[in-house]
Amino acid sequence: MIIEDSFYKNLEARYEVTYPEQAGATYTSLLNFSDEGNKFRQRWYRYKEGYSVDLIKMLIKEYNNNPNGVILDPFLGSGTTVMAANELGLRGIGFEVNPFSYFLSKCKLTNYTDADKQEFKKAAKAILVDSEELSEKEIISLPKLSIANKVFDSNIQNYFMAIKVVVDRYSGSENVKNLLLLGWLSSLETISQYRKAGNGLKKKALSKNTVNNKFLVTEIINGNYENIYNDIVGKNLKINAEIINDSSLQMSSYIEKESLSGVIFSPPYANSFDYTEIYKLELWFGSFVKEYSDLKKLREISLRSHLNGLSSKTDLSQLNLRTIPELDILIDNLKTRELWDKKIPMMLKMYFAEMFELLDKIWESLEVDGFCSIVVGNSAYGGIIFPTDLLIAKYAESIGFLVDKIEVDRYIITSSQQYHITLDTKKYLRESVVCLVKTQK
Ligand SMILES: C[S@@+](CC[C@H](N)C(=O)[O-])C[C@H]1O[C@@H](n2cnc3c(N)ncnc32)[C@H](O)[C@@H]1O
Repeated sequence: MIIEDSFYKNLEARYEVTYPEQAGATYTSLLNFSDEGNKFRQRWYRYKEGYSVDLIKMLIKEYNNNPNGVILDPFLGSGTTVMAANELGLRGIGFEVNPFSYFLSKCKLTNYTDADKQEFKKAAKAILVDSEELSEKEIISLPKLSIANKVFDSNIQNYFMAIKVVVDRYSGSENVKNLLLLGWLSSLETISQYRKAGNGLKKKALSKNTVNNKFLVTEIINGNYENIYNDIVGKNLKINAEIINDSSLQMSSYIEKESLSGVIFSPPYANSFDYTEIYKLELWFGSFVKEYSDLKKLREISLRSHLNGLSSKTDLSQLNLRTIPELDILIDNLKTRELWDKKIPMMLKMYFAEMFELLDKIWESLEVDGFCSIVVGNSAYGGIIFPTDLLIAKYAESIGFLVDKIEVDRYIITSSQQYHITLDTKKYLRESVVCLVKTQK
């Protein structure tokens, strides 16, 4: 079967779909993390792939039926969902495989004591003075990352690395030590000669963006410490969270059946992005990975949204993967297309199989009347659009969920490879919020 516009139209016709240009599209302006830059605890690290606290609060207010309920985020990232749930007085649980993101969420989702607050204020000042002294005495070794010696300007490298060593040697409260490390990690990209771009790192355009003196380094890190301090002494948010550094596909080992009132998340999209690649500086310099084999293990347990580490020898027919007929048709059509990597069909099969497996587990863990809201982007390969929002809705429906609505919030600008996608089908390349409810079966 050839994929035509009618294929998507028929799939979409089953659901109540709102488009960004329509009045009912309420989440559109809340999808981005970009406005979170100055918000309580969100400003501790600019997590580009995150969404806003306000979006999550809106979804909880709209869908949560249990005032004593528990909200789960299976892809915690920077902890937005759990923080929003806590702000509304609900308990939150989160899973995150990437140890850097897990660490960031842990720092944001901790109740700090008065003693921690006082200690942090003093330690934040002392750290930078001690680091200056250490950097004059010792040459600090770099992580084993292949590009490690190109990451910082040579004028500041040893001083910047010395701060990390002084934090590692800090012998006070664990909570304070974590915040000291976080302030340093949050400055890493600004201070480095690389920036996150697309699916990885790019060298920054020269000179004007280079941090090449110790004064600037101190100023940037002090700014981070100041934000952290102001937020721990400022608003008194009662954190009520459990966060787990494991794959959410393991959730059945941690979460009881029918114990959640809601699940809200944004998974990695099926767009070949590899979070372990994007966060490689934080992972290596933060000592969350020490060897390439550590990185490989992380990739293996992350959701299969990327090609790294896939072997074309894997026999998928042996794996009994979950699928739906619409997905099979789309993947089958890829055979006729020119693809930039022959492992793309395999990645897509595995991505959706894992996503469907997760939906089964979410269904089991939700109370009756519980809800599940998914913020997801569609993708395209070989000119064929993979409408993740509709495919998720279709699978969810097949296991008993009611698809309450799909709200399209943003169209995605296609890469030049996808130029031959027709105008009619282009509207399926988008980011949406898929809203599911577990009604009695
Ligand atoms: C789009 S981000 C989530 C951002 C989050 N909503 C926020 O506001 O910060 C997706 C996250 O899923 C994580 N991830 C990937 N595979 C995972 C898995 N199998 N289990 C748990 N987390 C996973 C990635 O490391 C990444 O941090």
